[in-house]
This record gives sequence, structure tokens and C-alpha cells, in this order.
Amino acid sequence: MWHSSPEGFYENQDPVQADMNLRGKFFTDADGCISFRSVKPAGYPIPIDGPTGDLLRAQGRHNMRPAHLHFLACKEGFKTLISQLYVQDDKFIDSDVQFGVTRHLIGNYVRHENEKAPAADVKGPWYSLEHVFVLERGQPKLPRPPITGKARGERPKIPHLA
Ligand SMILES: [Fe+2]
Repeated sequence: MWHSSPEGFYENQDPVQADMNLRGKFFTDADGCISFRSVKPAGYPIPIDGPTGDLLRAQGRHNMRPAHLHFLACKEGFKTLISQLYVQDDKFIDSDVQFGVTRHLIGNYVRHENEKAPAADVKGPWYSLEHVFVLERGQPKLPRPPITGKARGERPKIPHLA
């Protein structure tokens, strides 16, 4: 799984973050469960300096993605699942530029104000999120994306379309 930072940057876009920050590979327990601790991601603008920007401007659409977590789940005997889980109170939840949001993929982040956090070093309000993904029987296939170098210099400044 992988996600953007609270500032809306993936580590490979962001010279401030360490390589592979906010990315993880997990193995389930015997019940098919994983758990992990992270920061709450933020949404981000997609680039508009090419034909995608021309298309969005022609349609009068904004270029924002609502905050989300990415998941890739695979197991022998099941089709590989690549999905996203969205933050329910994001202002762009109903207008994702990528049309990725479905009702089932809206995560239920629960804010905890005065409850003890699972980790002692977590101070103040924190969130929990539970979700069940169901894999379909079939042949697993894994994509092989190119992994290129780390971003250097300044954070990208991607304009927002109104
Ligand atoms: Fe994303």
C-alpha cells in the first residue's frame, strides 16, 4: 500500500521525504488481516500542463483528487486487487477528477478525541480506519511499473483549476 503525505505529495515527488516513505508491503495473518499505523493522507492536484489539462479546462472541471490510500493485494489463486480507499470528508469526494470514488471505496475514518491511542507516542486526536477487501478467485497478475529515481530540488508546484 502507499499514500501521499498530509501535504499531498508522494515521496517520489517530494525531496523532503525519505525514499519509499509512506509505502509498505504487508503480509496478512491467518485470518487475512493486516494493520498498520500511518499519517492521514491529503488530496492533491493532478498535473495540467499537457492534454489532460486542456481537456479539464474545456470541460470546466477541477484537477483535484480526494485524499486516498492505494492498495495492491495479491494471493495465489485470486485475482490481483488494485484499489484505493478514500477519505470520507474530503471536499472533492463527490468530484474526483479521476472518477475513482465509489460508495464501497469511501473509508470510514473515525476520529478519536479523548481515547487512548494504540501507540503511546501518539498525542492528541487520532483516527482509525477499518475496511474489508474481498478478492475474487482467479489468476494473480502483478504489474511491473518502472521505479525511477527520487525527486530532487523543490516540491512540484501543480496549479489548481478552480
Ligand atoms: Fe494517489
